[in-house]
Amino acid sequence: MVNWDLTVDPTSSIKNPTSTMEKTESILINGHRHLKYSGQSFSAEESLQRSKTFYAELNERRSVRTFSTEPVSKEVIDQLILAASTAPSGAHKQPWTFCAVSNAELKTQIRIAAEKEEQENYDGRMSERWRKDLEHLGTDEHKPFLEDAPWLIVVFKRAYEVDESGEKHNNYYVNESVGIACGMLISAIHNAGLVTLTHTPSPMNFLTGLLDRPANERAFLLLPVGYAAEPSYVPDIHRKTLEEVAAFYL
Ligand SMILES: Cc1cc2nc3c(=O)[nH]c(=O)nc-3n(C[C@H](O)[C@H](O)[C@H](O)COP(=O)(O)O)c2cc1C
Repeated sequence: MVNWDLTVDPTSSIKNPTSTMEKTESILINGHRHLKYSGQSFSAEESLQRSKTFYAELNERRSVRTFSTEPVSKEVIDQLILAASTAPSGAHKQPWTFCAVSNAELKTQIRIAAEKEEQENYDGRMSERWRKDLEHLGTDEHKPFLEDAPWLIVVFKRAYEVDESGEKHNNYYVNESVGIACGMLISAIHNAGLVTLTHTPSPMNFLTGLLDRPANERAFLLLPVGYAAEPSYVPDIHRKTLEEVAAFYL
C-alpha cells in the first residue's frame, strides 16, 4: 500500500496549461502537486461502439509506398507531432525528437544516402530468408517517396540527456517509449487522412549527420508523410485474427 502524504495544494485553483481538461482541483502527494483526473468515460454500450469504430478506422490504415507531391501544411505536421508526444514514456522523460523535413534539397540528400544503404542491403547484407520475406511487398532499393512525400518525419530516440554541468543521465525504456510514440504518430497521420510508411533504411546513422543531430540522439524511424499518389496499390496482406494474437485468462 502506497503511503501517500496528502495535503491540500495551496495553488489548487491553477489549471493545467498542457491540457484542455478542466483540472481546477489538486492535492499534494508526498509534496508533489497532483491534478484531479477528469478524463472521459462512457456507458458500457457506448464504449463497445467506440472501440468498434476506432478499430474499424485503424484497420483501414495501410503502409503506402507511393506518394503524391501535394503539399501538407506545417500546421498539420505540428499537430501530428504534438499527438505523438502525448505518448507515455519511462519516468516521463519523453526521450524523442521528431525532425520534420520539407526542404527539397535535404530530402534529396536523404534519398541518396538511404538508397545507398538499401542497395547494399539488397546486394547482400540481407539474408536470403529476409529477402524472401520482403518479396510479396514489392520493395527494392529505390525510394522515390523520400523525395515525393512533402514531409519526412525522422524520429530520433534520446538515449540520454546532458545536464547543465555536462553530466549524462540515461533515459529509461527508451525503445518502448519511442515505439509507442511512433505508433501514436502513425495513427494520428492516418486519422488526418494522410498516409505514411514505417521506413527503416538500415543502418540509419547517416541521418544523424545530415540532420546535424547531437550525440545523445539515434535515428529510430523515418516516416514519409503526405497524400497517397493516385492510384496507389498496396500488398494484399491479411491481419492475424483475435484468436491468433490474444490469449485470455478469464
Ligand atoms: C519497424 C518497421 C520497419 C519497417 N521497415 C520498412 C521498410 O524499411 N520499408 C518498407 O517498405 N516497409 C517497412 N515496414 C512496413 C511493413 O512492411 C508493413 O507495416 C507491413 O508489411 C504491414 O503492412 P501495413 O502497414 O500496410 O499493415 C516496416 C514496418 C515496421 C513496423
